[in-house]
Amino acid sequence: MKAAVVKETTPGERRVALVPDGVARLKAAGIDVLVERGAGDGAWLPDASYAEAGATIVDQAELYRTADVILTVAKPDKTTVAKLKSGQAIIGMLAPLTDPDGAAGLARKQVTAISLDGLPRTLSRAQPMDALSSQANVAGYKAAIVAAEAFGRFFPMLITAAGTARPARLLVLGAGVAGLQAIGTARRLGAIVSGYDVRPASKQEVESLGATFIVLTSVKDAAGEGGYARELTAEERQAQQDELTAHIARHDVVITTAQVPGRRPPLLVTEDAIKAMSAGSVIVDMGASALGGNVAGSKPGETIITGNGVTIVGAANLAATVPTAASSAYSRNISALLLHMTNDGALVIDTSDEIQAGVVITHDGKVVQEAVAALLPQPTQGGTGVDGTAD
Ligand code: NAI
Repeated sequence: MKAAVVKETTPGERRVALVPDGVARLKAAGIDVLVERGAGDGAWLPDASYAEAGATIVDQAELYRTADVILTVAKPDKTTVAKLKSGQAIIGMLAPLTDPDGAAGLARKQVTAISLDGLPRTLSRAQPMDALSSQANVAGYKAAIVAAEAFGRFFPMLITAAGTARPARLLVLGAGVAGLQAIGTARRLGAIVSGYDVRPASKQEVESLGATFIVLTSVKDAAGEGGYARELTAEERQAQQDELTAHIARHDVVITTAQVPGRRPPLLVTEDAIKAMSAGSVIVDMGASALGGNVAGSKPGETIITGNGVTIVGAANLAATVPTAASSAYSRNISALLLHMTNDGALVIDTSDEIQAGVVITHDGKVVQEAVAALLPQPTQGGTGVDGTAD
């Protein structure tokens, strides 16, 4: 099998799917590794370091002509999809739940699409493959750094001959993987940190990092399936926003990370809450998206300063801005998954395996992953998957 590492094409994407360490790991399992020229440049990993690890550096045309499995970080764009050939496999963060038609397109091309974001994350044997967690961890770290950079004062208490600086008061809304790392990083920078989440289980995790957990009376328990949060009802949402407003106004810095799988991120920081903050306050919205984020008015990739002097950073794809660390973790995730699916140096698709049932999105011309297939028009008769040619 030839596995090929592409140079990412998404604007601002500096990560690479495999680092040189990963090349050696795959080679030991009988997999040849091709690397597109310059693939690691954005993460400070030169072609020579891949060649030294045993990879063959190729141009793009040769890569798509000869690879059996394409390794990528982000979902391929239309130009890349056009280059894929029947019988090839692609592994990456393909986000098929937000783009089921894209998955159907890959099925039509007889491409096997394998998406790390479909991994059953609570399975302990799947943890080395958990790219959502590894990338959220990197992004949460960077969110605290971005907040510190945008803030006009110190995070720690500093006592100097020129006076005493009081520490920043920082609030993290959403204490999942990213939120906990943001809390830990802000604590290491010396801020006084509070955390909040709708899953009661997160209280202990927040407190174990030395932060204070904020308890709201409006939402008692919104734990959903698989360790995730459920979507709040309209009444709960309103009551939560009202109650959070007072807490937000008492903080200098707010980092928001709240997500609900398959839904638009919940609005946690309303316009009223922003108006109640002091000039110089900073909000970093990790939920910022084209559909709206956790913070009223935030825009992905943009920094806005409100009339009352609050800086709102719409932090999209923060993991890509710490490219070497993010790539190194992602490389371990993707190589663990590829090795899990490899037998005698060949890719073996077996969706009776719980891990493969989650990650294999298309195979044999069909959309086979249940949650993605459910989003597409169903075939009129028989079959276990959605026929890529039916729609
Ligand atoms: P995520 O990115 O989907 O969401 C981030 C956080 O936002 C979550 O903690 C969620 O509870 C919170 N949230 C959602 N709606 C909210 C609201 N209205 N107000 C406040 N907070 C809200 O979640 P992530 O970080 O990917 O994972 C969340 C949890 O999933 C983990 O903390 C863990 O319990 C579980 N998990 C378990 C794993 C395992 O067992 N190995 C691996 C990964 C995750």
